[in-house]
Amino acid sequence: MEISLWLALILSQLIGLDSFQVPQLLVNATENDPWIWASLPEDYRIRSVLFYTEFEGEKCPFYDYRLEPSIVHPWAIREYLGNGTLKISAVVETHQNETVIESFRIRSLGENSASVEPLLKFLPSSEKSIDCEKIRSSTKYCLPTISHHRGKPISCSGRLLFSESFGDNENPLKNWKHVVQSQLLEPHYEGVAFVNRKANSYVENNMLHLKVTKSNYGSKNPFYLENCTYTKRDANQRCGEKKYRLPFRKFMPPFDSAKLISLDTFKYCRIDIEAKMPIGEFLFPGLTLSSVNHDAIRIAIVRGNKKLTDFASNEIGGRTLYAGAILNDYGTRTYELEEFASSDDHYGNDFHTYTAIWKAESINFKIDGRTFAQITNSTIVQELSKNERHIELFLTVGGEYNFPDNRIPPEQKSYRNFETSLSSKIKKAVTNAPIWDQDVMIIKNINVYSTDEYEE
Ligand SMILES: *[C@@H]1O[C@H](CO)[C@@H](O)[C@H](O)[C@H]1NC(C)=O
Ligand SMILES: *[C@@H]1O[C@H](CO)[C@@H](O)[C@H](O)[C@H]1NC(C)=O
Ligand SMILES: *[C@@H]1O[C@H](CO)[C@@H](O)[C@H](O)[C@H]1NC(C)=O
Ligand SMILES: *[C@@H]1O[C@H](CO)[C@@H](O)[C@H](O)[C@H]1NC(C)=O
Ligand SMILES: *[C@@H]1O[C@H](CO)[C@@H](O)[C@H](O)[C@H]1NC(C)=O
Repeated sequence: MEISLWLALILSQLIGLDSFQVPQLLVNATENDPWIWASLPEDYRIRSVLFYTEFEGEKCPFYDYRLEPSIVHPWAIREYLGNGTLKISAVVETHQNETVIESFRIRSLGENSASVEPLLKFLPSSEKSIDCEKIRSSTKYCLPTISHHRGKPISCSGRLLFSESFGDNENPLKNWKHVVQSQLLEPHYEGVAFVNRKANSYVENNMLHLKVTKSNYGSKNPFYLENCTYTKRDANQRCGEKKYRLPFRKFMPPFDSAKLISLDTFKYCRIDIEAKMPIGEFLFPGLTLSSVNHDAIRIAIVRGNKKLTDFASNEIGGRTLYAGAILNDYGTRTYELEEFASSDDHYGNDFHTYTAIWKAESINFKIDGRTFAQITNSTIVQELSKNERHIELFLTVGGEYNFPDNRIPPEQKSYRNFETSLSSKIKKAVTNAPIWDQDVMIIKNINVYSTDEYEE
């Protein structure tokens, strides 16, 4: 992974280059000690210094931010020089709000001496790809972050905020609550009821399984969801009725499934989810960051179909991975990015790590560590950054968000989402299709970290 730096931010803010000059870096080398001290002289005008050090070879650069006038050598850092060469940039912020930067090369001259020379070009100079993830998570260095967790700001980037591996045998779903409601009505138009039953959500081998099953609602088994979580006006259509009525049939979902919502909430973060997607016609797995306003960042969009083409003849079945959002601007609408990842295999054949990095300027999406799509439209990113978000995990069948009528031609999907008797039409479409290969989404683990604008 290419390291990208918040130095870039500082560089973009460089002002007042004339009034304050960074003094020459001083180096203290001691005999038989491969470590050196590098320092700037004390100066009442300096408010803070960010030192950025590049080493030879594959070693990751280091950051060290100093804002402590009370310590003995406030603007000093200790670095390993050995017999080699170091490059250090000092980004100095003055009390006049000026930011100036100077870079130096330090070369070992053996014994107890080293040479220091200014560099004309500012760092970073390394064009090598280095995996420097560990800098972010190092407890030694604190990169500023704007991440929030449970309503509170976090101070350093790269910190683990939430980790779930479904390992608690007693109560493996203690960090989650179930959503219980039918998804048949607007805006979803999906063929499932989310229920809180062992058949549809269970933990096995420390992995969460969300499974679709055929429902058997009817006169003997009226469609009625106890402890329904939908509380608004037309609740009976989404929660069912205790007593069977024939005209009510149209509200009976053909399948049962499950949806879990995390108790924790986050704003600006990186989330990694290791999951195996379902395989089968019109199955749709949901991995999202959702707000109370029902908008969502969709971390991965993998349609269960083995093959599916849209009106523009693009392959949009389970060998293509999309990402996007559900927006709540002018009524809810889906926003699916045009960029995608594709694979020779259906994404449901293996576990993969699906990642979203939600920042103030963009939201990046990755598969197994590789970026494949990015939301950069600032209107949309801002829209999605108003509130903290829950993690949502679900498995559903069909739906206008997932298989939009205006995207999927009738020869690919035999019914339209806005037609009457949607329930029986979804059931028929699934019955007429080949039997589902994998009617389950399996989630191995989820990690959420604080992030910074330069994580890519
Ligand atoms: C550098 O060495 C000098 C002389 O030994 C010492 O006075 C000074 O405190 C040292 N500076 C640092 C930053 O260690
Ligand atoms: C530096 O080089 C000298 C002579 O080549 C060697 O004896 C010494 O161990 C080296 N020191 C380090 C820290 O690599
Ligand atoms: C520096 O910036 C801070 C925050 O923007 C401001 O409060 C302060 O007055 C500024 N100081 C000077 C000397 O311009
Ligand atoms: C509904 O909630 C009650 C109280 O928490 C519980 O005892 C009951 O088992 C729940 N029913 C279902 C179907 O989940
Ligand atoms: C960003 O998104 C908004 C809302 O969807 C749209 O009106 C605008 O044209 C987009 N801007 C760019 C630069 O694409």
